[in-house]
Amino acid sequence: MSLGNSVTFLAGSYIFREGDKGNCAYILEKGKVLITISKEGENVPVAILTSGELFGEMAIIDGLPRSASAFALEDCELAVISESLLSERVSTAEPIVQLLISLLIKRLRSVNMKFKGDGSLEDRNQVIKPIMGDLARKHLKMESDMVRGLARKEFFLVYQGIFDLKTRDLVGFEALARWQNPLRGLVSPAEFIDVAEQTSVIIPLGDWILEQGFKDLLILQKELGRTDLSMSINVSARQLNDPDFSRRIQELQGRVQVNPKNVKLEVTERVFQEGQHILETIKKTAEHGFSFAMDDFGTGYSSLTSLFNMKVNTIKVDRSFVSTLIKDSRSKAIVHAVVAMALELGIDVVAEGIEHEDEAVLLAALGCQLGQGYLFAKPKSLDDVLLQFSLNKQVA
Ligand code: C2E
Ligand code: CMP
Ligand code: CA
Ligand code: CA
Repeated sequence: MSLGNSVTFLAGSYIFREGDKGNCAYILEKGKVLITISKEGENVPVAILTSGELFGEMAIIDGLPRSASAFALEDCELAVISESLLSERVSTAEPIVQLLISLLIKRLRSVNMKFKGDGSLEDRNQVIKPIMGDLARKHLKMESDMVRGLARKEFFLVYQGIFDLKTRDLVGFEALARWQNPLRGLVSPAEFIDVAEQTSVIIPLGDWILEQGFKDLLILQKELGRTDLSMSINVSARQLNDPDFSRRIQELQGRVQVNPKNVKLEVTERVFQEGQHILETIKKTAEHGFSFAMDDFGTGYSSLTSLFNMKVNTIKVDRSFVSTLIKDSRSKAIVHAVVAMALELGIDVVAEGIEHEDEAVLLAALGCQLGQGYLFAKPKSLDDVLLQFSLNKQVA
C-alpha cells in the first residue's frame, strides 16, 4: 500500500503548531519529534516520538484544530498519510470501533486541556463531541440487550411450512428467529441478526437456534406422524467462520438424536466473502449428512460462481423474482432458466415468498417443485403449527 509522499523537516523547525487546521497525519520514518502543549505562554513537552510512530491523527479524525505542536528535534523524515486515506479507514471501521476511537480522542483532548488548566469540564465536553455517536451506541446497546435476552429466554422460533407445489403436500419447515424484548417489543430478525452477526453474539444465539430447531423438528415429526419432514435453519457466515462449527453441530445432532438428512442449513452468498476455510467447514458439515441450501438466490453478485464453488442440495429463489413473476417476463425467464439448470445439476428449487395462487401455478408449470409463502402458511409458533397441521391431517 502506498502511504503517499515523504517530507523532510530540519532539526529545530515546527511540523505544525497547536491550533492549526489539520490536513494530514504523519508516520515518523527517521528522526525525533517533540510534542508540546502551550501552557501560560510556555511550550510544555508531553511526548517525544521516535521512528515508526504515528502522529497528527487526532485533528484528522475529529476535525478539530491540532491538539498540540509537533517540533523536529532532529532532521526528520515523515511519511504523509492523507486525510482521505485515514478518514476512509475510520469511516469503514466497525461502528463500535469507531465509537471507541472517537471516545479515546475525546478523552485525550480532555486530559490535554485539563493539563493546560483551560476551560471547565462543561466547556471541554461541549467542544469535543464524539464523531460517530448514534449508530455505534445503538448497536452496542442492542448487543448487550441480546446477551441479556438470551439468558432471559426472550428469543423464540417460529416455523413456516414448505410445500410441494404440485401436490400441495407439506414437506418441511423453515425456522425463523424472533426476539420479544420487554422494552423494544417484538424485534424483527432483519434488525437484530445483522447486529448479532457483526459481533460474537451470533455464536451463542446461533447455537440456541440450532438446538431449539432440532428439538422442535423431533416434536413436529412425532406429532404429525411424518419422519420425512425437514427443518431448514438459517446459518450466518460468522457462525460458519468458527472452525469448531462442524464438530459442535455434530455433537448437538448426536445429543438431540435428530437425523441430519432432515436438516437443511440455509446460507447466503455472503459466506463466499469470508474465504476458502468456510467452504471447508461446509464440506465437513455436509460429510456428517447435513444438507445445504443457497438462500436468496439471484440477489448476490456471483450466484452462479457460488453454485460452482459449493455443493448445495437446494436453491431458494428470492422473493423479488417470485413477486414480479406474473407481470415481468424477465423474472419468468430467469426463474425458468434457474429451474432448468438446477434440474440438470440435481438440485431442488424452493420458490420463496409466494403470496398468490397464480404465482404458485406458474411456478409449478415452470418445473419448480417446492414453494414457501403466505399463500400456504405464515410463520407460526410451534403450538400453532401443530394445531394447523394436525387438523389438516384429521381432515385428510
Ligand atoms: P429469509 O431467510 O429469506 O426468510 C424469509 C423471510 O421472508 C422471513 O422474514 C419470512 O417471514 C418472510 N416471508 C415468508 N413468506 C413470505 C411472503 O409470502 N411474503 C412476504 N412479504 N414475506 C414472506 P423474517 O422472518 O422477518 O426473516 C428475515 C430474514 O432474517 C431471513 O430472511 C433471514 O435472512 C434472517 N433470519 C431469520 N431467522 C434467522 C435465524 O434464525 N438465523 C439467521 N442467521 N438469520 C435469520
Ligand atoms: P493532532 O491533534 O492532529 O496534532 C497534534 C498531535 O500530537 C495529535 O494529533 C497526536 O498525534 C499528538 N498528541 C496530542 N496529545 C498528545 C499526548 N498527550 N501525548 C502524546 N501525543 C499527543
Ligand atoms: Ca432463509
Ligand atoms: Ca430467503
